[in-house]
Amino acid sequence: MSHVNAPVFADVPARPFRAGPAGTHITIRGLTKYFAGWPLYEDFDLDIPKGRIVSVFGPNGCGKSTLINMIAGLIPIDSGEILFDGKSLKDTKIGYVFQNYREAMFPWMRTIDNIAYPLKLEGRSKAEVDRRMEELVASFDVKFDLRRYPYELSGGQQQTASIMRALAPGPEVLFLDEPFSALDYEMTLFIREKLQEVFMQTGTTMMLVSHDLEEAVYLADQILLLTKRPTRVAEIIDYTDARPRTVSTLSEPSFVTTKRTSLEIFQREVRR
Ligand SMILES: Nc1ncnc2c1ncn2[C@@H]1O[C@H](COP(=O)(O)OP(=O)(O)O)[C@@H](O)[C@H]1O
Ligand SMILES: [Mg+2]
Repeated sequence: MSHVNAPVFADVPARPFRAGPAGTHITIRGLTKYFAGWPLYEDFDLDIPKGRIVSVFGPNGCGKSTLINMIAGLIPIDSGEILFDGKSLKDTKIGYVFQNYREAMFPWMRTIDNIAYPLKLEGRSKAEVDRRMEELVASFDVKFDLRRYPYELSGGQQQTASIMRALAPGPEVLFLDEPFSALDYEMTLFIREKLQEVFMQTGTTMMLVSHDLEEAVYLADQILLLTKRPTRVAEIIDYTDARPRTVSTLSEPSFVTTKRTSLEIFQREVRR
């Protein structure tokens, strides 16, 4: 009889939850997401390590943004489970940096008030907010006037401010979706270094979507390479060079090899 092995309760998962290896921060199990009847992710599993930067790289439209948006709770999932140290998203503090910094800030608020906004939402006292703001300004070595409105700042300054805002409450995970792609090269290099410094100070788990392989590898402890849709993990590559990484890192054999391997996997996947 075919129904003998069917689950007794339809809402009980068929498989027990499988924890990730030691050091896992985010566990994704059986993630399924369809858009307009077409699968983007189907029964997708992934473990994101704690206190590491994971760069997400893959073909155009493979679902990089959708992946981090689902983990960050910005897009609903069809089914599956996403846990942060075993907790759900509602018990987890996250930060998010958008590609489009021009639409990310409240235009009617001074930059400093934009950055402090999540702290105020948390109900922190004025003294606490001021102390945290001083800390952020020092760690970002901010040289521009935060009392200006966002539209009075350059793109790079605005994106610096939106990274500061995302980090202000001390998130457990920081998501960044192509945070440099609207910036000029000089600004990209500057913010990339800032991000690396902050990471070295705080050890915040980060998921960084990038379409620039050099940047993806440069910042990463792990490069998550995705396939074309329906999207699977093509490969996960560890990149362990010491931090701080610098311009000379770019010509290190380990960097060059990691980048080449990633590119080969990427090319294999886009040709498939
Ligand atoms: N709201 C939506 N409705 C329908 N299709 C969508 C929607 N958002 C994304 N998609 C599709 O899902 C796929 C993945 O999109 P996205 O995550 O933005 O890709 P990536 O960031 O890797 O370029 C693309 O094929 C895109 O067209
Ligand atoms: Mg995208």
